Amino acid sequence: MPIIGCGGIASGADALAFARAGAAFVQLYTAFGYDGPGTCRRIKDELAQELARRNTTWNEVVGEAVGEHARAPRATGVQMLVQEAEELKGLLDELADRMNKDDDEASI
Ligand SMILES: Cc1cc2nc3c(=O)[nH]c(=O)nc-3n(C[C@H](O)[C@H](O)[C@H](O)COP(=O)(O)O)c2cc1C
Repeated sequence: MPIIGCGGIASGADALAFARAGAAFVQLYTAFGYDGPGTCRRIKDELAQELARRNTTWNEVVGEAVGEHARAPRATGVQMLVQEAEELKGLLDELADRMNKDDDEASI
């Protein structure tokens, strides 16, 4: 069953985060409301750049995520909290990397 991710997508990195959670497609509204025509193209270009940088493709990312979640034993209670904390840590590490990269670029 294909999953369509939505809610808070405003950049290629946001879209990629949904693919890494197993979404085969994404939809957005609010970012389009703020940025207007060209938003989807910008997000697509950012996404293409990010995928190329990681030497992977959208289908590969989604396929890996779906495979991972399908194999994962159903976690309960504390296990689930630990898993979520680990996922959150990964996202925060990625955000820190991106912010450091932005700082580096701004200081050039
Ligand atoms: C102004 C506005 C109106 C919306 N109207 C509907 C609607 O009538 N039916 C619906 O299923 N979703 C509606 N949505 C939800 C969007 O289709 C979409 O799922 C959601 O806004 C995606 O999250 P994002 O706005 O953070 O990108 C609406 C969203 C906004 C911002």
